[in-house]
Amino acid sequence: MILLKNISNLVTCANPEGKAKRGKTQGDIYNIKNGFLLFNGTIKYSGNELGLRKYLKENKIIKYKEIDCTGKTVMPGFVDSHTHLVHAGSRANEYEMKIQGKSYEEIAKAGGGIANTVKAVRKSSKSELKKISEKRLHNFIKYGTTTLEAKSGYGLDVKNEIKLLEVINELSKKNKYGADILPTFLGAHSIPPGISKKDYIDIVCYEMIPLVAKKRLAVFIDIFCEKGYFDAQDTERILSQGAKFGMIPKVHTDQFYSIGGITAAKRVNAISVDHLEVLNSKGISQLKDTNIIATLLPGCSYFLNMVYPPARKLIENAVPVALATDFNPGSCNTENIQMIMSLASLKMKMSAEEIINAVTINGAFALNIQNKTGSLTPGKLSDILVFDFPDYKDLIYHFGVNQLVKVFKKGKSIL
Ligand code: NIG
Ligand code: FE
Repeated sequence: MILLKNISNLVTCANPEGKAKRGKTQGDIYNIKNGFLLFNGTIKYSGNELGLRKYLKENKIIKYKEIDCTGKTVMPGFVDSHTHLVHAGSRANEYEMKIQGKSYEEIAKAGGGIANTVKAVRKSSKSELKKISEKRLHNFIKYGTTTLEAKSGYGLDVKNEIKLLEVINELSKKNKYGADILPTFLGAHSIPPGISKKDYIDIVCYEMIPLVAKKRLAVFIDIFCEKGYFDAQDTERILSQGAKFGMIPKVHTDQFYSIGGITAAKRVNAISVDHLEVLNSKGISQLKDTNIIATLLPGCSYFLNMVYPPARKLIENAVPVALATDFNPGSCNTENIQMIMSLASLKMKMSAEEIINAVTINGAFALNIQNKTGSLTPGKLSDILVFDFPDYKDLIYHFGVNQLVKVFKKGKSIL
């Protein structure tokens, strides 16, 4: 048992109503000044000193290790609910093309983009993919991510999509850091060369989905609903087929064009809609009064130098907002969720409190693991971050410097 004591700011992100944070509650972080946190693998007590003494007495607990956290801020481990963790190769040359003025679409047309990474993935062995991904995992941990989602989508044939999902699942079962990794099947990321869209969709629906389900390789199913990729009809068809096989739908939508992805997401009961850079007022009103999480990925706007998602309008309309990296080789090459938090503040005008909930409890809701992690409340996993500043606002205000000094995953010190 470990006791973190005299914590200057103990940011719990509690959700007493048991719901994702939205509207006014998006900013309720339940911060405790001079807090005390007692835990082993799960959180035992979170609150003030008086309550702790009572808890210790009632439960006859006398042995625990104390760590003084004067001047420190403690928060839940970050939940990055949208990443493309497992991929191979580098697209640094495309990055340079982009700097010289080429758009994401132009680069894709010139043979770059997703297809480029697919080539590299197909050439890589499972152990190679695992090795590079473990290195990236270390980067995620360094910046405070203790739980992440990881998508396939760079194989685009039966063999290679399964290969990616197997790598994700093997990493999820066992990695150096004990990080939790939730697998998503993204066979419908792009249409591979040499096959018609119709034939590829048939393979996704009738070969890939049943096999992924049979091998129990994915919790979620996702699709890139975008001009030149998959339209709203394809989205509904593929995601409902995934749902039939027990996978929970998610959608990449409204990144460049609004082509009906939100409507499709609602029809298949998606858990989240991700990107939303060009989401319009119709889309916002469609999301209102649903439980769909709007997962914003401002790192993409930064990396592609384009418009940012309408976070304020979403919050004003009581749509729950999560933030994630979208770590991938083409549109956001960073594992650093703290960078995403800085962008959410400066570019989308989210408050520090709204941002913190967006990368903790709301991220957990976007992955359906809100009962396990995302807040520092009794019964949850001990996924705990210790920062070297007394006021949580410093996390946003003091940008570009990593002030994370300790990470516990399920109660074990991993950094
Ligand atoms: O989430 N939008 C589609 N997929 C990725 C980018 C993929 C890539 O360029 O490799 C994304 O932005
Ligand atoms: Fe993505």
